[in-house]
Amino acid sequence: MSATRIASVTGRRLWDSRGRPTVEVEMTTESGASGRAMAPAGASTGTGEAVDRRDGGGAFGGFDVTGAVASVNEEIAATLRGMDAADQDGLDARLIELDGTEDKRRLGGNALIAASMAAAHAAAAALRMPLWRYLGGSDDSLLPLPEIQIFGGGAHAGRRVDIQDFMCIAVGAETFAQALDWTAEVYRAAGSLMAGAGKLRGVADEGGFWPAFDGNEEALGYLTRAIEAAGLEPGGQMAISLDIAASEFGRGGVYRLARDGRDLDSGAMIDMLKGWLGRYPIVSIEDPLAEDDPKGLKAFTDAAGAAVQVIGDDYLVTNAERVRAAAAGGICNAVLVKPNQAGTLSETRAAFDAARAAGWGAVVSARSGETEDVTIVHLAVGWGAKQLKVGAFARSERMAKWNEGLRIADALDNRGALPPRTAFPWGR
Ligand code: PGA
Ligand code: ZN
Repeated sequence: MSATRIASVTGRRLWDSRGRPTVEVEMTTESGASGRAMAPAGASTGTGEAVDRRDGGGAFGGFDVTGAVASVNEEIAATLRGMDAADQDGLDARLIELDGTEDKRRLGGNALIAASMAAAHAAAAALRMPLWRYLGGSDDSLLPLPEIQIFGGGAHAGRRVDIQDFMCIAVGAETFAQALDWTAEVYRAAGSLMAGAGKLRGVADEGGFWPAFDGNEEALGYLTRAIEAAGLEPGGQMAISLDIAASEFGRGGVYRLARDGRDLDSGAMIDMLKGWLGRYPIVSIEDPLAEDDPKGLKAFTDAAGAAVQVIGDDYLVTNAERVRAAAAGGICNAVLVKPNQAGTLSETRAAFDAARAAGWGAVVSARSGETEDVTIVHLAVGWGAKQLKVGAFARSERMAKWNEGLRIADALDNRGALPPRTAFPWGR
């Protein structure tokens, strides 16, 4: 008997934060340990992502996952039983081979990522280690700097504004706990400002306030005022980070800003963003141009990449090859790391390693459809990722992750210190 040999693999259908079905995998080892993980789901997805298996048809808008759950209980369980849960690379390679498709659509990216992450949980439990430590963390690991949404938009808010995420980054914070304290004050202040202006309409998919703004730029003004109202210095202590998610409104070099009532070409988009960089304390921009516009992405990185972090999400889809090619071409300078875009933990790790080898930033990220699963926090700490993106400072599928970070911080010698400011583009 080996402590980490897989004894059973069980799939079940549970529900995500949008009330849609999702896949959970529970794995036990011969020593009686067990681990489980749930698949998240994106709404503004890149075309190169691993594809979830959904039933289609009338039930639950076609989002049901009984087929993906069957993948787990039949083929995946039969294949993984008897394998070593601690052999993540070997096990993931078997899953990829078993699926046999380029984009994991046969068994389902949702079935595969839940199985792959459940194996890591089961192995860590069998070895009696917290997951972050099993994944490489040590007593002096650092916590990742949080990137936290204050206003939601784009595909997560009925396209009420075009830009998807208006976030803040506590660039002056020294600990994870301090970054959360400061963000809690900004989130409260933003809610009060919106209430005072008669603009408070609840929250978007990731818990950021619903963006009842007259234009995209108005949100930036409110966010800067919220930072000031929280008693923080914009730029010095608390900076702004944006996910433009431009693939959602840009195609073929035309960017349709519905809220602002204008169409921009690549060059005009870049000029608009550069204008914002000059007027607001922005330190990071994700997907400034669309996934079909690498020339535009490169032009933006050439123009602004020395001053700001330029993150590729839709264009890179957590794919190591794409990260290497984009680094060689100077197309961005950081990658968003979402396990379910890759479909297995080893491929996610490969994308992260490719970013590190290129001297890039890497932001471990949740999806807009989430669950109480906190695996990504352990990945970020265990792998030594410097940043973590989880959505807003509200809704328990988000708070579960921030709270898990606080628990991990308590176990560390440094009690949750963040990387020094000089570790980030804005500190250099
Ligand atoms: P998604 O949004 O999960 O809907 O893709 C998150 C992001 O774009 O970063
Ligand atoms: Zn994104």
